[in-house]
Amino acid sequence: MRSDRQVVDPLSGRRVLVGISGSIAAVKLPLLVSALVQRGAQVRCLLTPSAARLVSAEALACLSRHPCHLDADQWSHQAARPLHVELAEWAELVLVAPLSATSLGRWVHGLGDSLLASTLLACEAPVLAAAAMNTAMWSAPAVRANWQTLCGWPEVLPLGPAAGLLACDRQGDGRMAEPELLLLALESLALWGCGRDWQGRRLLVSAGPTVEPLDGARCLTNPSTGRMGVLLAQAARLRGATVELVHGPLSLPASWLEGLSCRPVSTAAAMEQALAAAQPRADAVAMAAAVADHRRSSPPSHKLSKAALGPTLSAGWEAVPDLLAGLVQTRPQGQVILGFAAQSGDVLGQARDKWRRKGCDLLFANPIDQPEAGFGAGSNRGWLLGPGAQERPLGPAGKLAVAHQLLTALGALLRPPAPDPPAGAPPAADR
Ligand code: CTP
Repeated sequence: MRSDRQVVDPLSGRRVLVGISGSIAAVKLPLLVSALVQRGAQVRCLLTPSAARLVSAEALACLSRHPCHLDADQWSHQAARPLHVELAEWAELVLVAPLSATSLGRWVHGLGDSLLASTLLACEAPVLAAAAMNTAMWSAPAVRANWQTLCGWPEVLPLGPAAGLLACDRQGDGRMAEPELLLLALESLALWGCGRDWQGRRLLVSAGPTVEPLDGARCLTNPSTGRMGVLLAQAARLRGATVELVHGPLSLPASWLEGLSCRPVSTAAAMEQALAAAQPRADAVAMAAAVADHRRSSPPSHKLSKAALGPTLSAGWEAVPDLLAGLVQTRPQGQVILGFAAQSGDVLGQARDKWRRKGCDLLFANPIDQPEAGFGAGSNRGWLLGPGAQERPLGPAGKLAVAHQLLTALGALLRPPAPDPPAGAPPAADR
């Protein structure tokens, strides 16, 4: 097991206020609160009256190591200041999960008639808001309009619900983002805030290993979990990008893929095809996948016996084309490309050569034979090579923090977004 001990968790020591409103997804919050405490956050919880019927204030008090606040606590002749003001000023980060239709409506319309509602109005800290409700409620014009308003607020990071089976037995949009994704988004809020500098941009990311068959039962792969690429994809999505993710088999929480347009593949050939199809749509490409270098030319589809396998392993191999170098050749004008380099030994020397050979704009070179970096680690470190012979050390830091730094560097190379056409101008196709 690798040690990520020197890397400080962005949630450690942070004051996190958790507001829970009335949706059945509230039952997922106690364990999320526990996870936050285990990561070193200071946590305070507050429950709306409807949420208090679904989840126990006692459980939240135990797990957060602090009394859980209810509407009845808001005003007290023994308190010098109202509780909603105290809580709003105490919080560095706020999570509202689940955010029900009613709490959304109160917030957006500026109504402060309960503890959660008035705390949110008094709050100046960034807020992660995770909606959850029945599909029809989510599609109701009033809720759509309220959500649109919320999405325009600069200090709010909105996480719309995912599709799935709802507690009302309906299949559709409405499930609250899973707790692992909420933790990730909170970490992103702590690192980056609510900035949406990638709004309107399209990012294509590859992640994870490829798997090359040796025969019908065996394969050649590598220990990539896909973590760096998927975190890059989620960070971009949280910063407003539309993200397409082409990925090999991942060893990550499935919820980390929510909100991304995913194309799972297995072999390098399938990855090459999927990337080629998506490349023309992208403003930027990040090639984080650990692609095989060699594959068997014609692997048998049946399982070879042990005795037959041995001799075949020394023959019948071919080189896998370099997908990154290929993307550089076929890129549309203005597209910027980030490559990765997994190195052992002399990282910088080999990376300089790789950057020149592959022709990408940026190359993040990271050691895979040192602590705090490499396959499966929670953290990463390395050098970012870029235009003007720039060689910038990054990390050691959590992989999400590195992802944000890479996105900032990549974003700086993007062309400015096309200005909106003047009113009355002909459509783009006619100009
Ligand atoms: N890459 C690729 N296609 C391959 C191999 C690698 O697109 N067949 C990409 C990776 O996604 C990464 C970059 O090239 O962005 C560097 O990958 P890396 O494994 O570090 O280097 P290789 O090119 O495979 O060279 P070597 O194994 O000799 O270090």
